[in-house]
Amino acid sequence: MSNEKRLISALRGAAHQIPPMWLMRQAGRYLPEYRELRAKAKSFLDFCYTPAMAAEVTLQPIRRFHFDAAILFSDILVIPDAMGQRVSFESGEGPRLDPIETSEAVDRLGAFDAEKLSPVFETIDRVKSALPPDVAFIGFCGAPWTVASYMIAGKGTPDQAPARLFAFKRRAAFQKLVDRLVEASADYLMRQIDAGVEAVQIFDSWAGILPANEFEAWSAKPIERIVATLKEKRPGVPVIAFVRGADAHLPGLTRRLGADGYGLDTALDPKWAVAETAPSVCLQGNLDPLALLAGGEALDREVDAILAAFAGRPHIFNLGHGILPQTPIEHVERLISRVRAEK
Ligand code: CP3
Repeated sequence: MSNEKRLISALRGAAHQIPPMWLMRQAGRYLPEYRELRAKAKSFLDFCYTPAMAAEVTLQPIRRFHFDAAILFSDILVIPDAMGQRVSFESGEGPRLDPIETSEAVDRLGAFDAEKLSPVFETIDRVKSALPPDVAFIGFCGAPWTVASYMIAGKGTPDQAPARLFAFKRRAAFQKLVDRLVEASADYLMRQIDAGVEAVQIFDSWAGILPANEFEAWSAKPIERIVATLKEKRPGVPVIAFVRGADAHLPGLTRRLGADGYGLDTALDPKWAVAETAPSVCLQGNLDPLALLAGGEALDREVDAILAAFAGRPHIFNLGHGILPQTPIEHVERLISRVRAEK
């Protein structure tokens, strides 16, 4: 028997009868213990940069639910912060950054200062020695397109129109920004790996809004470059690409990005994804967070359909997007018993 952690072996192509599971945003506001600690932090970024606190919230969902993986508690916007762009989080309103509105503003960004993120690496060091031996540890970053979309708009928007427009109007400057994010993200992920994470996930939450040419230039290509760097410099560390809204691009992405696992969002039909991708490719997902919020029979039905669709495949059970803050704990417990067949 191999003592490889279940999540890692799934990413290497093993089909488990009971899939390993974790939930995107599993450390978060639906947990009372998270809300309690969060109230003690001055700001969300302080929370992320205080290793004792960030390590504690990384471990909270593991203690409560014994998921198969912990995900580092941090945020995708620490990269712009480490490039000198001002980043803050307004409670209830999401991120606020000084928006990048001109080509000159791209040139004014500082070099990626990994030192500034040393608390994140210290958090990793603390978590790795506290994790149960069967629980894998996932690091992450945002994909260049998604991170750039917040850097340009300076906040969340319904459709990332400011970044899409910037990319059309100031192509060379946008390419420069994406190139810098490719480099910073690869560097940041390698440092997370060196500090102790065992797999990494790249979140491209806004990929699905791009037309085909733009998707290729700003989502697929930059992720491919990051994965290629990781595969060359940190071989053996599995990479999960969560290209939200990849839709019909998914089969092509699984053939070329070079990742080990692919996250499916809520809207993708798992049966289609299974039929259209090579059987060795590990797929992750894709329960609708609203089914988890609803609970009851609707939840059971959706969970069963997902388990049936991925049966016999390397599969990691997850949501199709982050868990909603209003989600009742009992629904998460019901989900876990259903997946683990503790009937
Ligand atoms: O998954 C985890 O438990 C690990 C931690 C994690 C957070 N953000 C903590 C967080 C991860 C992996 C992220 C990723 C992230 N951050 C993404 C990609 C995934 C996705 O959800 O699409 C994006 C786009 C961001 C940027 C971001 N951070 C936004 C838009 C917001 C505000 C919206 C919101 O959910 O509140 C955040 C804040 C944030 N990041 C919170 C948490 C727990 C909530 C803030 C708080 O607790 O005060």
